[in-house]
Amino acid sequence: MKTTRKLSLLPPYLFAELERAKAEVMKQGKEVIDLGVGDPDLPPPSGLLEALKKALENPEYHCYPPYNGTAEFRRAVADYYRETFGVKLDPEKEILGLIGSKEGIAHLPFALLDEGDLVLVTDPGYPPYSSSVIMAGGKLQPVALKEENRFLPDLQAIPEEICQKAALFFLNYPNNPTGQAADLEFLTELVGWAKKHDIILAYDNAYADIVLEGKPLSILQVEGAKEIAIEFMSLSKPFNITGWRLAFAAGNPEILEALLKFKKIVDSGAFCALQEAGVYALTREKSFPEQMREIYRKRKAILVEDLTPLGWEFYPTNATFYLWGKVPRGRKSFEYCREVLLKTGVLITPGIGFGAEGEGYFRISLTCPDKDLQKAVAKIKENM
Ligand code: MLT
Repeated sequence: MKTTRKLSLLPPYLFAELERAKAEVMKQGKEVIDLGVGDPDLPPPSGLLEALKKALENPEYHCYPPYNGTAEFRRAVADYYRETFGVKLDPEKEILGLIGSKEGIAHLPFALLDEGDLVLVTDPGYPPYSSSVIMAGGKLQPVALKEENRFLPDLQAIPEEICQKAALFFLNYPNNPTGQAADLEFLTELVGWAKKHDIILAYDNAYADIVLEGKPLSILQVEGAKEIAIEFMSLSKPFNITGWRLAFAAGNPEILEALLKFKKIVDSGAFCALQEAGVYALTREKSFPEQMREIYRKRKAILVEDLTPLGWEFYPTNATFYLWGKVPRGRKSFEYCREVLLKTGVLITPGIGFGAEGEGYFRISLTCPDKDLQKAVAKIKENM
């Protein structure tokens, strides 16, 4: 069957590949402990489930939702921004509801790029950034994230002619996969640099509520950021609802308008009952994310403490529920993670799956019950 040339350029989707590897090992009758995808194992707050059940009773919610999100959802987002970041947003023009932040990320290049337009993406980076750029006909320019630079891009090292040509920059902090958060100093430098070069910032802040040390930040806190940036945020991670698909983008009204124009031909907005429950989460479950952070802090401490004496080395992350580990010297990340899986049944993600600069690293997700994490440590102790 003929498919598009662009589709053939896409690598297999990393997390779908991990699912496949897991299924293969399980088929051999072996148990797999999945520390691959970042998918919270704990339940959403019970009040949130009640709010969703109640919302399901509203007959109006079973019709098409508004394309840009319900007014109540956008207002709740505006309140969240004011309280959390001190940022004022117009819910009419500066907030757009999304069916998960991946949806917005994947559609943005179709709204902004012409064939051949240059897009900067971090390497390592969340795989949908580059795949969506390829599908929209853009040209990719990886920007290396190096450990010696705390996995922040060295903006001054990006050649001037690249800066001149670039239309868009995809990046995320707190960073997936490295677990590094950005500070306000870096965000201020980033906004100034993007404005100077007229580059749109697509800033993915899906892990804003999973900052384990320090305070969460929004790029929109930086003065002038709204001129060139939109920020993606998701309710998935802080409220353990990855399956719901509920998120939003906020920031520059023209960029959001362009994204909405494209989205209108693709979807009709998130199910209204989910949005009503989302309002409940943002307004009535404000303390829930801290409960989750405390659990991730403990899991992280236990895993680092137990695995370090076995020779496993970790980058000192300060955010997200990921550990970013170093592959033993001389080994390749894919081959090493495969060996770990086959010998121990523990599934971890090879850094190379996030880009060439991810080589030499692996990622462990802490979204796994404590008893399974303990079992993973025991299996590693026994078999590696
Ligand atoms: C991850 O494991 O990187 C994420 O959970 C994937 C996602 O957010 O889509």
